Amino acid sequence: MPAAVSADHALPTGLLGGCTPRVFLARHWQRAALLVRGALPDVCGFFTRQALCALAARDDVESRLIVRDGRRYTLEHGPFRAATFRSLPERNWTLLVQGVNLHDDRADALLRRFAFVPYARLDDVMVSYAVPGGGVGPHFDSYDVFLLQGFGRRRWRYGPQRDLSLRPGLPVKILRRFTPAHDAVLDPGDMLYLPPAYAHDGVAIDACTTCSIGFRAPANAELAQAFLDHLRDRVDLAGRYADPGIVPTTRPAHIPAALQEHAVATLARLTFDRAFVTRFLGSLLSEPKPQVYFDPPASPLPLRGFIAAIRRRGVHLDRRTQWLYDDDALYINGEAHPWPRAGRALLARLADARALTPADAARLPAAATSLLHAGYRHGFLHPA
Ligand code: SIN
Ligand code: CO
Repeated sequence: MPAAVSADHALPTGLLGGCTPRVFLARHWQRAALLVRGALPDVCGFFTRQALCALAARDDVESRLIVRDGRRYTLEHGPFRAATFRSLPERNWTLLVQGVNLHDDRADALLRRFAFVPYARLDDVMVSYAVPGGGVGPHFDSYDVFLLQGFGRRRWRYGPQRDLSLRPGLPVKILRRFTPAHDAVLDPGDMLYLPPAYAHDGVAIDACTTCSIGFRAPANAELAQAFLDHLRDRVDLAGRYADPGIVPTTRPAHIPAALQEHAVATLARLTFDRAFVTRFLGSLLSEPKPQVYFDPPASPLPLRGFIAAIRRRGVHLDRRTQWLYDDDALYINGEAHPWPRAGRALLARLADARALTPADAARLPAAATSLLHAGYRHGFLHPA
């Protein structure tokens, strides 16, 4: 079950080395690295080599295998068969499994520990398994990341760096020069926060796992591209250029001025207001990742049975469900749903905490329960 969101961001937490979320965000977020000893000691036993290799064998899971040979790297994309791992050397390779939170409750709960940052900025939990000497090489990422050490030890060298040029001709992004300011060995449960564009290189000392709690921030070009797609699907400019009564031309290659005016006037009708943009944004941000499929219940409860079940046991969102909101609407897996007239506070609570208690579920008005029942039939949420 996902952890509920703690509302008190003024309380210090071991997760952030005794900082409050408020202080962490003011001092470190997007600005400066933070090394936290003993941030989450329990995570160490979460993912075994076997479990990660099993995930990497699935075709709905994104995985990569990086093998280093001196200064050369090779990269392969999954799915991988078990035999692949048996044929690898004892040193210098790492398996990276993306989106583990979509498949494992503990990884989902881990991601939600960072819910002091809006869900719209949270991306996923990637888990890597490395044999001694394994790592992805010195590089930088475009996003903030928390690197949490599972079992085994890893040496991290990291620091801000002006020259972010990359070595050409490699299948992975490797910095041409790497001059780390810091050098630390992370033990199980230790965690390193790095802001975007911070150079870093983690090399496994023992066979080890690292959980990367990753964030996302839309690039302006991606935002514009997605918006133009959204707009294209909603354009309704009926009609066509017409020119009855034209006179013969002696310059047939010349584009008629009337056609130009028509194009200018028609395209000026392509306007959008703030509400159109914010609805687009909510839909975009709540879009599930491409490899996500939901499992609708085989024999769904009818509405009355569903209401009885959630009143008895409560309700929780499926870990693959993206459920966001703003003043205007609820966004469920890429679709905007204008707020129903009643039950808004409870639905917002479900979006924030990703679960409702039986007592809260019992207070849901009819419009809200029918919205939830529709989501349940799609496999987006479940009676607890
Ligand atoms: C890793 O887990 O080896 C790589 C994580 C990172 O450097 O972003
Ligand atoms: Co990185």
